[in-house]
Amino acid sequence: MPTSKRLRINGPRLQRNLEDLARFGAIAGGGVCRPAFGRADKEARDFLEDRMRALGLAIHIDSIGNLFGIRNGRESKPVVLCGSHADTVGTGGRFDGSVGVLGGLEVLETLNEAGVATRHPLGVVSFVNEEGARFTPDMMGSLVFRGDLSVEAARRMVGIDGTTVGGNIDENCYAGPSTPGELPVRCYVELHIEQGPVLERDNRTIGVVEGVQGIKWISFTLRGATAHAGAMPIHLRHDAAYVAGATIQYARQLSLQVDGQRATVGSLVLSPNLVNVVAEEARLTVDLRNADPGRLSAAEERLSLFVNDIAGTEGVRVEREVRVDVAPVMFDPSMVDAVENAAKTLGYSYMRMISGAGHDAQVMAGVCPAAMIFVPSRGGISHNVAEYSAPEHIEAGANVLLHTLLRFAD
Ligand code: GLV
Ligand code: MN
Ligand code: MN
Repeated sequence: MPTSKRLRINGPRLQRNLEDLARFGAIAGGGVCRPAFGRADKEARDFLEDRMRALGLAIHIDSIGNLFGIRNGRESKPVVLCGSHADTVGTGGRFDGSVGVLGGLEVLETLNEAGVATRHPLGVVSFVNEEGARFTPDMMGSLVFRGDLSVEAARRMVGIDGTTVGGNIDENCYAGPSTPGELPVRCYVELHIEQGPVLERDNRTIGVVEGVQGIKWISFTLRGATAHAGAMPIHLRHDAAYVAGATIQYARQLSLQVDGQRATVGSLVLSPNLVNVVAEEARLTVDLRNADPGRLSAAEERLSLFVNDIAGTEGVRVEREVRVDVAPVMFDPSMVDAVENAAKTLGYSYMRMISGAGHDAQVMAGVCPAAMIFVPSRGGISHNVAEYSAPEHIEAGANVLLHTLLRFAD
């Protein structure tokens, strides 16, 4: 067997690096709060850059803040790239995103140690603002890399705290000299935790991801009229909270009625938000997901019709804005096969699956052939401080990443 076939990553070293990265933005319960473009997110990016330099990688940072570490190949060819993101939602865990970036660096360290040279360069990327919880859209860094969003437009985005992406980039020194998208990429492989319960329930170690659901984020601003909660008769009200509540109910109905649909109201803010005052304004977001583009569009249409209808009856005005619209993606079959073959050859149990969560890989699939490797999430819990993936599963995922990358780098 050639030496490279016998190679395995160093699991304990990868765990130590995960622990080190989890110190940036650490919060109670073992979680992480690293909203995109903030101080803790930047400290995490600096830590990753230091790790890349220690591994002898060439550093590229582009003007939106995406960080790339590149290991030379024998030939100057497009990069075989892996990676993920280091930002988190406000109540994040220590594995979402971090496993993919540090798993990639572990692969390169393993190759360095074994003295394995590859034909193509190998690279690891940490994309900025994958989460989109502070600044929409999510997958911002990869969208800019792909050229679907300009740096200028991304910089203008205003976050939930009223600050702009551009202001944060400048204040926290995110921007680098590279032009987004200038790096030629041969293919992209993302190792990630599943963030759902499927692998654990099926008792499998590796998820061979065939595709990713489409995502639409719609924000509604509902404007009614404030009134006294005791004195104003119900039939005379223009109650924004009532329309918001009906929308939440309808989102659940949509999820049950449309095949493969998930609809979530994750944010609702009432104004003036007082116990004895009819709400004059409600701002809410609806997150719609479906792997079928037609069903996703139909769900969006039905939701909008419903909101207009009920708001019309209540005398409430509706403003609607689509904040994110990412189409479902099926990954390149030869990439998916390569992940499956690596899992099989390494002797891990595996299954093919569709990703419920959004990932940079679905954006990168528009740049080059892409694929994803999932490892189980305990209890299917993610975007939560209790997020946990077992060290042996992370190690297995990184070994699958190693052998998938080698397959395309030579
Ligand atoms: C990203 O984590 C998403 O799926 O919302
Ligand atoms: Mn993620
Ligand atoms: Mn996430």
